Amino acid sequence: MTDKINELLKRVEEFQPQTAADVEEFRIKILGKKGELTALMDEFKTVPAEQKRELGQLINRLKTTATERINTLREQMQDVAADQKSATGDMTRPGTAETLGSRHPISRVKNEIVEVFSRLGYTVADGPEIEDDHHVFGALNFPPEHPARDMQDTFFIEKHPDILLRTHTSSIQVRTMEHQKPPIRVICPGRVFRNEAISYRAHCIFHQIEGLYIDEGVSFADMKQSLQYFAKEIFGEDTAIRMRPSYFPFTEPSAEVDVSCNLCGGKGCPVCKGTGWLEIMGCGMVDPNVLRLNGIDPKKYSGFAFGMGIERIAMLKYGVKDLRLYFENDVRFLHQFDTDL
Ligand code: DAH
Repeated sequence: MTDKINELLKRVEEFQPQTAADVEEFRIKILGKKGELTALMDEFKTVPAEQKRELGQLINRLKTTATERINTLREQMQDVAADQKSATGDMTRPGTAETLGSRHPISRVKNEIVEVFSRLGYTVADGPEIEDDHHVFGALNFPPEHPARDMQDTFFIEKHPDILLRTHTSSIQVRTMEHQKPPIRVICPGRVFRNEAISYRAHCIFHQIEGLYIDEGVSFADMKQSLQYFAKEIFGEDTAIRMRPSYFPFTEPSAEVDVSCNLCGGKGCPVCKGTGWLEIMGCGMVDPNVLRLNGIDPKKYSGFAFGMGIERIAMLKYGVKDLRLYFENDVRFLHQFDTDL
C-alpha cells in the first residue's frame, strides 16, 4: 500500500495540465467521491493496526499535497485563460470598423474659396480675433459715431473699451497694409463675432473671407471680372453676377454682389424669394482715405476689396436652410458632406 500511495503522490506532483478543465478532471479522479484517494481510504480500513500510524500519516500527506496542488494549478489555469482572452480576444471575430471623420462643410467651402483666389495670385493672410478699435473700425474709415461700433453689434472686452472681438475680417486688410507694400493681393479667412440673436439666418460667431487687391491702375472692371470668375468657379459655369450700389465706410464706390439663383436658374423660386438673385457679398474700390490712413499713396495706387460670409456661401451652395446646423456638429448633417476632398 505504501507503494501505491507514493506512486499517486508522484503523479500528483508531476501533473501538468493544459487547461482548467484538465485540472478539474484530475481533481475528480483523485479527490472525488469515487476517486483514488477514497479507494485508498477504504483499503486503509483493512490494514493491520501496527501499520495504521505510518500509513495514516502518508495518506494525510497525500491528501494535503493533492488538495494544495490542485488549488494552485486551478488558479494558474484561470490566470492563463484570462490573459489569453485579453491579449488576443477571439481572433476569428469580425473587426469593428473605425468610422472616419470628414472635413466640416465650412472648412471645405473656405478651402475652396481660398483655392479659387490662389489661382488668381492671392495669398492667405491672417489676423487676431481679439482686436482693437483701430484695426476693426478706425483705420477702415468708420466715423467715431458709426453705429457698427455700437454695443449692440460689437462684443467689447469689459473695462477695455478699445479691445473687442472683431466684427469682420476687414481688420486683416489693415494688418496687411501695415507690413506689406503694394502690390498686395491677399485673401483672409477667419472667425468673426457679433452680438446677434441666434436664428436660422444669424449667429453670434460666424466665418468671413475678405479679399484685398492693391496695385497701380486697379479698376472697378478688374474687380467685376475677378468676382465673376469666383462666382462661376463656386456656383457653376452658368452663374451670372450683378452688382447693386451700396455703402461701406472703407470702399467708394461700394456694391453688393448677387449671383443668379442656382436652384431656379434665375426664374424665381422660394429660395431667391422670386427675384432670381441671391446676395453673396459686399465689395468696392478701397476708399482713398483707407489707403492714406494705412500709409499707401492713393494718387499712385488703387485697389478693390470684398468680403463674404462663408456660412452664407455654403448655405447657397448646398441648399442648407438653417445656419445653426453648421454649429451643432450633428453627424447626420455632417456625413452628408463626406467626400474625399
Ligand atoms: N466687412 C463687411 C461686412 O462685414 C464686408 C465687406 C464689404 C468687406 C465690402 C469688404 C468690402 O472688404 O469691400 O459686412
